[in-house]
Amino acid sequence: MKIYHLSAECYPVAKVGGLADVVGALPKYQNMAGLQAAVVMPYYDRKFTRENEFEIVFSAATLLGTQRLYFEILKEKTDKLGFELFLVKIPGLLDRENVYSYPDEREQFIAFQLAFLDWISYSQQTPDIIHCHDHHSGLVPFLLYHSKLYRRLANTPTVFTIHNGQYHGAFGWENLSYLPEIDLTKTGLLDWAGGINPLAAAVKCCWKYTTVSPTYLHELTVNSNGLEYLFWIESAKGVGIINGIDTEVWDPKTDSMIAGNFTAKTLAKGKQANKNVICERFGLDPNKPLFTFIGRLVIEKGADLLPEAIERSLLENPDQLNFLILGSGDKEMEAALLALKDKYPGRCNVFIGYDESLAHLIYAGADFLLMPSRVEPCGLNQLYSLRYGTMPLVRSTGGLIDSVIDFGDTDGYGIRFNNASVNDICYAIFRAVTLYQNTAQLQQLRKRMMALDFSWDRSAKEYNDLYESLNPTI
Ligand code: GLC
Repeated sequence: MKIYHLSAECYPVAKVGGLADVVGALPKYQNMAGLQAAVVMPYYDRKFTRENEFEIVFSAATLLGTQRLYFEILKEKTDKLGFELFLVKIPGLLDRENVYSYPDEREQFIAFQLAFLDWISYSQQTPDIIHCHDHHSGLVPFLLYHSKLYRRLANTPTVFTIHNGQYHGAFGWENLSYLPEIDLTKTGLLDWAGGINPLAAAVKCCWKYTTVSPTYLHELTVNSNGLEYLFWIESAKGVGIINGIDTEVWDPKTDSMIAGNFTAKTLAKGKQANKNVICERFGLDPNKPLFTFIGRLVIEKGADLLPEAIERSLLENPDQLNFLILGSGDKEMEAALLALKDKYPGRCNVFIGYDESLAHLIYAGADFLLMPSRVEPCGLNQLYSLRYGTMPLVRSTGGLIDSVIDFGDTDGYGIRFNNASVNDICYAIFRAVTLYQNTAQLQQLRKRMMALDFSWDRSAKEYNDLYESLNPTI
């Protein structure tokens, strides 16, 4: 079964968030299960593309409005990622360093999708499934079924996975001319609220859409930035499949990015060794519980609540805890956190930016991970932290509900709270500080966390069943 995954991000080629981790892992596990899964993404001028060898497997020109764009499809030569990796390169448009936020982002992603479709169409390929991820490839299902250009492929099943329903990639109708000749009686499928909405178009046109956790599937009908009604009427097409994690990349037993490897048996010593290294580097106290937050500093993740929650917790539990924050994003939030670092040296430190190795080290050495997310379609950080015996403190939303059970409940191992509020976060931290004093109980809970199975095997099988239900001939 030949599957093409289309995505703007893929680890380790280009990562901004969890989307990259999923697209860098799921195809690998699908291939281990006997499928033929490949990834297609835009070309980025980054370390991975500079340091690896590629061959040009196809080149042609596509039309973006009246502009003729020459493109190349590059294939990574060794398949060392566990899947075939194809990059769409368009000089001057898809050959830059960053993944998002260019003023011509819309043109970039439309051109990416057109080049992909032209490639499989002209090279006479017949994929069994085209699997699009997020709005950056959301126009593909519409174009496949409603543009004359791709008529040969019009029976190809498409799956669309929503990693984040807050972003739609919408733009005005004046840009319709960017699309190739389409069936004009079908333009309603592109429309939502008076604009061309790639996320909505994908949900309407795909054969099945999936969300990255079962709870998020329901949440989209009440919170999706204006698409609630659409998700409600299309709900029969929706399937919730919780993400897995790449247990080869995230394994405290073999992880080369951490300071000391450990297993559930050597957990106490191993965690302390990593914690000592972090505390030394960031001027914190290795004998007190270490709380961390790793991720984008944005409202969606509840990062705006952190400065006040941290300060209040430091004052309410004097000399009893440390904080280390790793992330970047909103400039005001960054400034507020940096101000805390100056105000409470030795108790709170902040690393603005993103550093994959440092993230691994922190998962290994921290005691508690804060995730006060307002929206969390799945969340991977709680899964990474569980694997390293670090207790997640999560707001009850989306995938966090599906993956974390409060330690006060049967078989529980984490801390849950209901509101994205400073009060709730502070109370969760207080519970964690109290638990930390009960070493035996904490150790037992950590062993329980490390024994959980969030590997891709299970979720990859659910995708496989879905593909087979769409394409029984394969
Ligand atoms: C997005 C979501 C996150 C999810 C990830 C991978 O980044 O915000 O919750 O885990 O995609 O699916």
